[in-house]
Amino acid sequence: MDEQVVLVERPADGVGLVRLNRPRALNALNGPLMYALMDALDAMDRDPAIRCMVITGSDRAFAAGADISEMAQATPAEMVEMAFIARWERLRAIRKPVIAAVSGFALGGGCELALACDLIVASDTAVFGQPEINLGVIPGAGGTQRLARTIGKALTMEMVLNDRRLTAAEAERFGLVNRVVPLADYLDTAITMAAQIAARAPVAAQAAKDAVNVALETSLTAGLAYERNQFYALFSTQDQKEGMTAFLEKRSPTWKGK
Ligand code: CAA
Repeated sequence: MDEQVVLVERPADGVGLVRLNRPRALNALNGPLMYALMDALDAMDRDPAIRCMVITGSDRAFAAGADISEMAQATPAEMVEMAFIARWERLRAIRKPVIAAVSGFALGGGCELALACDLIVASDTAVFGQPEINLGVIPGAGGTQRLARTIGKALTMEMVLNDRRLTAAEAERFGLVNRVVPLADYLDTAITMAAQIAARAPVAAQAAKDAVNVALETSLTAGLAYERNQFYALFSTQDQKEGMTAFLEKRSPTWKGK
C-alpha cells in the first residue's frame, strides 16, 4: 500500500495539523507530497471548524528541500510542465494563519516552506539553510526573496552564496523564527499557539494576516490605505460588535466568525 505522504490531525479545538511524512527521504518535497500538503491546507481553509493550521515534519527533518531525484535530469520545459515551483503558489492563497513547527533540517525548499508560513516555532535542533548553490542552482520557491525581506541582504547573501546555515538560536536572533523551545516541546508549543490564535476573532485574524503580508509587497502609503480599509470593513462583522460590546460590558467575547 502507498505510504501516506501527509498525515492530517486535529490536535486541539480549531486547529488543523499536517505532518509531512516521507521520513526516509527527510521529507524531501516531491510532487505527491506538495500536492497532498496543498490539498490538506485547502480543505482546512474551507473548513469552518479549523481556524489555524500547523505544518510539521519529523524531529530529524522538517524538510530537506525539494526532491533532488525528481528534478535532477529535468529540462526547463519539464520543470514548467510539472509545475515544480508553481505548485507552491497555493500556499499563498491560504487565508487562515499557518504556523510551521520546525525541528532538524529546514533546508532549501524546507526553509522556503517554513518562510512561506505566517509564524515559525522551532526546536533548538533546527537548522535553516539554502544549500542550492551546492547543486548548481539557486532557491526557487522564495528563498532569496523572503529571506532578504526577513533577515536582510547581508545574511541572505551569505546563505545563498556560501551555504551559511543558521542554528535555531541564530534564526531567533535574526528574526526568522518566533520562538525556540527544547526539542520535546516544539510541536506542543506550536499547537498551543495555534489554539490561542484559533480562539481569537476569525475574520479579524484573516484580515490581520492579509494586511501584514501586503506590507511586504507595497509602499507605506498604499499599505496604510489597505490597512485602513480592512479596519473599516471589519465593522461589518458581528464579531466587531461583539468584541467591543463585550469589552464595555466587562465580559469575554463569543466569536461567531461572521
Ligand atoms: N531530495 C531527495 N532526497 C533527499 C533530499 C532531497 N532534498 N535530502 C535528503 N534526501 C534523502 C537522501 O538521498 C537519503 O536517501 P537514501 O537513504 O535513499 O540514500 C535520505 O534522504 C537521508 O539523507 P542522508 O543520507 O543524506 O542524511 P544525512 O543525515 O547524511 O544528511 C542532509 C542530511 C544534510 C539534509 C542531506 O541529506 C542533504 O544535504 N540533503 C539535501 C539538502 C539540499 O540540498 N536541499 C535543497 C534541495 S533543492 C531545492 O530545495 C530547490 C528549491 O528551492 C525549491
